[in-house]
Order: sequence, then structure tokens, then C-alpha cells
Amino acid sequence: MDRLTAVILAAGEGKRMRSRQPKVLHPLCGRPLIAYPLRAARSLADRIVLVVGPNADEVVAAAGSDVRTVVQAVRLGSGHALLQSRSECGEGTILVLPGDMPLLSVETIERLVTHHQKSRAAATVLTAVVAEPQGYGRVLRQGGRVKRIVEDRDASDAEKKIAEINTSVYCFAAGRLWSALGKVRSDNDQGEYYLTDVIGVLSRAGGRVDAVVVSDTTEASGVNDRKQLAAVSAIQRRRILDRLMEGGVTILDPASTYIEDTVTIGADTTIYPNVVIEGQSAIGSECVVGAGNHVSACTIGDRVTLLPYCVLRESVIEDAAILGPFCHLRPLAHVGPKAKIGNFVELKKSKIGRGSKVPHLSYVGDATVGEGVNVGAGTITCNYDGVHKHETKIADHAFIGTNTSLVAPITVGEGAYIGAGSTITKDVPPGALAVGRASQVVKEGWAARKSRKHEESRG
Ligand code: UD1
Ligand code: CA
Repeated sequence: MDRLTAVILAAGEGKRMRSRQPKVLHPLCGRPLIAYPLRAARSLADRIVLVVGPNADEVVAAAGSDVRTVVQAVRLGSGHALLQSRSECGEGTILVLPGDMPLLSVETIERLVTHHQKSRAAATVLTAVVAEPQGYGRVLRQGGRVKRIVEDRDASDAEKKIAEINTSVYCFAAGRLWSALGKVRSDNDQGEYYLTDVIGVLSRAGGRVDAVVVSDTTEASGVNDRKQLAAVSAIQRRRILDRLMEGGVTILDPASTYIEDTVTIGADTTIYPNVVIEGQSAIGSECVVGAGNHVSACTIGDRVTLLPYCVLRESVIEDAAILGPFCHLRPLAHVGPKAKIGNFVELKKSKIGRGSKVPHLSYVGDATVGEGVNVGAGTITCNYDGVHKHETKIADHAFIGTNTSLVAPITVGEGAYIGAGSTITKDVPPGALAVGRASQVVKEGWAARKSRKHEESRG
């Protein structure tokens, strides 16, 4: 097989997105658009060259260090863009991929490359036969071969009726490509150097140009505006769910489930309706993700139960823990194995040890909680003095009574008890009982005395 260089064209302005962000950085199911052609290119090509527009540092950064980038300083068309990559391309086959066609599968690209390298054609175009070809370049054939591609805006009425369109994915024999690109003119409706014109140049010079037709036309969907982004996103979302289901995940209602491309989920995990799982999240096997959970960049072990409506971000949850309903994990929460975090509990930058319980209505921030601890309902770590954050340490098997305020920095020793309703400002030694509340006053017969006084005053 010839050496394969993939050139990804991503210098277009993306005007139709009406965005300050470069088009190829818009996210699609958790990855920037550009990540999709890059992923395909990485699995097939020996070398990857990315053509970007001016001021595209973020695009270059998103691409990664294994990618050679070239800048198309002025946008003079797709043909001009490809020409900029010449010095970075090697001999052999040049595979051209547009930056805005994320649904294109590796299998399809591979089919194109294989056909091209076997036939030894000068060029091979990936085409699609579509019901609504408006806006696309049309493929003009003669016999089995491709003669020319005409852009929609330059096409005659007869040409506009052609249903076979150019997908903008091509293979070229390097040497012939560069000499043909030099012959492309900009005498068209947009005054641009069209890459599509290379096809006509090659074929007129007697070169063989083939077409490979995509079998699934959705693969050829491009993203030029936000409506197309949403349409492509719906298809990609379904593909992700299908992949997960094929891997043994039960998804009770795919229509209401949004899981990003970056997520992994183990077999025999069940996902209830209206769940969002995004970012670099990994969920283990045999978990239950209840209705309405929103999980973002979390690592979750096996046999974890997320009861409905938890919001979890940048946190770790170990095996067999139970969370929810309605709990909130903010960044750097770490829930140990078999721990229980109940309703209306907020954790932030805190570690909860094995088997410990924070069952109701608590805020635990900047805390380290040992194993087998019980944190009573309404317990609050007072971690903030208005200027600094302070730490709370609760050792193994401590018992924190209901409605305790732990004024940090504070340490509660192993096996210590805190009486309900306490405000704890001093460290509690291991095994001690600390009670920090006003002692109760009881006034016998007080109510009767009060009403008597009231009657006397009325005379
Ligand atoms: C292009 C094709 C059209 C095809 C369609 C498929 C041309 C002239 N037309 O049209 O035949 O049916 O794709 O979606 O190629 N680009 C640059 N620099 C430029 C201009 C474009 O890098 O100066 C890049 C774009 O980022 C994009 C690609 O080239 O990745 C195609 O350009 P675009 O403007 O999207 O062309 P279309 O109108 O979609
Ligand atoms: Ca396009």
C-alpha cells in the first residue's frame, strides 16, 4: 500500500454558524467537530495535515501534537486551501477530508482509499446519491468515470437535476494532484479556487477519475449552520447509544437519553429515562442510573446506585455506593465504597470513607470523613470564614449528631460522639462526647401564669 497522507480542510470561515467560535470547535456530543475527522484520519493515515485559517490557535491546540498544521492566510477557496498543505504532504496517496463532516465512518473512508489504491486512479471522489441535491456540487459522469464536478451556483438547469453529489472527500495520487491544482482557475461565481475543478483538469488530461458512492447518505451530512449541527447531533447521539447497547448497557428510553461520545459504561448497567452523562465520564458495570441524573466528568465504579435526580460533577464514586435522590456532588468529591449519600446533600472537595453515611440535608465541604462514620441530618461543615477555606477531619466510626455545625478547621477523633444540635468549635478527642448547645430551661406552669396575667391586664 502507498503511503497515506490525510489533509483535513478546516480554514473555512463557517459564516453560517453566526458564531465567534471557529466552526470546527463547536461541540458535537462532547467532542469538537474537528475531533471526528481527526479520529478517522488517525486510524488510517501515516501522516495528518490540518489546514486552518488565520487566528486559529485554539483549533491547532485541539488537534494535538501529532498533526502538522498549515495556515491558509487568505481564504481563496478549497483548492487553494489544499495547495497550502503541499510542503507538509509526502508522496503516495493524499486523502482529503472536510473538517465539517463528522458522521463519515472510518469504514467508508477505508473503502474509498482501498478502491483508489487498487485502481491506481488519478483521483477518486466519494459521492452520494441524495433526494435533495440543492447546494452541493454535482458529479458529471461519462461512462463509469467522473468527468467533472460543477458547483450548484455554477450549474445549468440540466446539471442541477443530477442527484449524485460531491461529498468533498477525495483520494488523489500526490504528484498528479499538485500539478493539476496549479492549473485551477478562479473564474467562477465566487471567484474562488475550487478543489472540485481539479477533477475536470485531471480527467481532461486523460487521468482516470473514479467515484465511490456512500451507502448511508447520512454519513455525507455536513455542518454549515446550527440547524445542521442539531440534526447531525441527533444521529451521532443515537449511534453512541447503539454502541453502548451493543456493549451490554440497558437504556430504557433512548429517545430521552443524552450520553456523550467521551463516556464509557460497563455491561449490565441500566440507564433510566432523562439522563445526561457527559465529559470524560466512566461508569462501571451493574450500576443503576436513575431518572433525571446529570453526570459530568465523573468516575463511577461497579454496582453503584444513583437514585433519581442527582447532579454529579468531576467526582469519584467507588463500588456499591448509593447516592440520591437529589444529591449534588461538586468537583473533587470522592465517595468511598458502599458509602451512602442521601437526599439534599451537597459534597465539595471532600472524601467520604468506606461505608460512611451522609443521609439527609447536609453540606460537607473541604472535609475528610473516615470509614463507618454517621453524619446526622442537617450537619454542616462551616468551612469558610469569609476569606479562607478550612478543613474538617472526621475520623473512623465517629457519630455526628443531627444538626451539627462543625466550625473548621476542626478534627473529630475516632469513635467520638457529637450531641445533636451542637456547634463544635474545638477539636473533639477520640472516643469523647462533645455537646455544644445551650442547656435546656424548663419553667413549670409558665403557660397558665401567662394567660392569667393577660386576663388581669384586660380588667
Ligand atoms: C464543498 C464542495 C461541494 C461539495 C460540498 C459537500 C467545493 C468548491 N465545493 O462545498 O462540491 O458538494 O463541499 O459538503 O469544494 N475551505 C478552506 N478554505 C477555503 C474554503 C474552504 O479550508 O478558502 C474548506 C472548508 O473549511 C471546508 C471545505 O474546504 O472544510 C469545503 O468548503 P465549504 O465552503 O464548506 O464548501 P461547500 O460550499 O460546503
Ligand atoms: Ca461545507
